[in-house]
Amino acid sequence: MKIRLGTLGDIPKIVEIERKTWGKYAVLEPTILSLLKAFPTGLSVIEEREMMGYCGCEKQPGAVFLLPYNHNVEETHDPNGSLLYVDIFTIDDRFRSKGIGSKLSERLDNIAIREKCKAIYFPLNKTHPYMQQGVKKFWEKNGYEVLREDKWEIITGEIKECFVMVKRL
Ligand SMILES: CC(C)(COP(=O)(O)OP(=O)(O)OC[C@H]1O[C@@H](n2cnc3c(N)ncnc32)[C@H](O)[C@@H]1OP(=O)(O)O)[C@@H](O)C(=O)NCCC(=O)NCCS
Repeated sequence: MKIRLGTLGDIPKIVEIERKTWGKYAVLEPTILSLLKAFPTGLSVIEEREMMGYCGCEKQPGAVFLLPYNHNVEETHDPNGSLLYVDIFTIDDRFRSKGIGSKLSERLDNIAIREKCKAIYFPLNKTHPYMQQGVKKFWEKNGYEVLREDKWEIITGEIKECFVMVKRL
């Protein structure tokens, strides 16, 4: 199993897994493309014979833990930021519960350290489709905690209550 940087050629497979996992909440090609353009070292893929999962992130200015609303990463990514914000993070359903997500979480830690970020964060909807399967536990197991509760605009434009999850490095 290896983790490598994501490339343009990975986009169709990422979109396929996004659609399968998230349905109408899937992140589609334009957003992944803007992630790659804005912060190419923030997109990673984990694979063996095929892609098993991926994560994508950007940098945000320090201190405030902003929740960028439905956004264009090319506009929000701050190369001098000191917080790493996770935009996408999914393991294909055929490969879950084998420790692969935890490996990808370590990858995020390494990106954050290399980029001199002091924390990693993202919003986790209280009505997250995978809450029952233990998504919050997954993040807690990997060193994240609830920073605050907030509102956040999801991809469909709906405003949702969320936990802002943070891992301090
Ligand atoms: C959450 C997720 C990234 C975890 O990846 P993973 O490779 O299954 O994680 P690990 O094997 O390292 O850890 C497994 C633990 O994660 C938790 N978990 C959370 N959501 C899960 C899911 N949909 N399926 C299986 N386990 C899940 C369980 O507590 C599980 O523990 P268990 O194996 O003892 O039951 C992955 O399950 C996934 O992509 N789920 C759907 C999309 C999602 O929720 N993404 C996170 C965005 S915030």
